[in-house]
Amino acid sequence: MATDAEHHQIFSVIRERRSVRNYTDREVPDESIQKIIAAGIQAPTALGLQPWQFVVVRDRDLMRQVSDYCKPILAEKIREEPRHPETEAFLAALRDPAYSIFYNAPVLVLVLGAREVVSSVIDCALCAENMLLAAWALGLGSCWVGSATLVEQNPRLLAALRVPDDHQIVAPLIFGYPALLLPKPERREPLITWVP
Ligand SMILES: Cc1cc2nc3c(=O)[nH]c(=O)nc-3n(C[C@H](O)[C@H](O)[C@H](O)COP(=O)(O)O)c2cc1C
Repeated sequence: MATDAEHHQIFSVIRERRSVRNYTDREVPDESIQKIIAAGIQAPTALGLQPWQFVVVRDRDLMRQVSDYCKPILAEKIREEPRHPETEAFLAALRDPAYSIFYNAPVLVLVLGAREVVSSVIDCALCAENMLLAAWALGLGSCWVGSATLVEQNPRLLAALRVPDDHQIVAPLIFGYPALLLPKPERREPLITWVP
């Protein structure tokens, strides 16, 4: 069992972690990625099947191609939704050729879920959250870039990313050293119903 001090640390990591959308060029060592994945696979899985695989992408040119492919599809999806000031700003960013959905992070890790396991999306999401927390504990920033799953519509890029047919992309996660840390978005007070 963890000591009191270790318990204290996990609460501060959970509280402080936030999505990072601006990275330095500093490479993330393979050992850090290994540690992050090692933390990921400690997550519980519904049937104990651990239905995941990981792809580590450091190829910035490939990441750029994935981003360029996803951006217009994403813009189209957003245009179909009700307008908010935030989405207007995001639409403008998507039109900027320099904007990458991966925010110039040096590494992308795809958490892939086995298609034949019914619980694999939930299992892989738990794995992914462990990975985001582990990254923060190592001094790394991260962001779950859900929009990158749109790449599943492109067989050529999917093959380049080495995603096997029997797996789907559940969590595209970027990691890197933060260049800019913005304040964490405030959380609303949770609605809690206590049933005596
Ligand atoms: C399933 C999922 C998909 C997400 N997709 C994106 C994304 O495509 N781009 C992005 O910048 N952030 C993405 N995020 C990050 C959220 O915007 C972020 O977690 C949320 O605003 C709360 O901020 P925090 O992570 O800093 O606490 C995603 C998060 C989740 C859980």
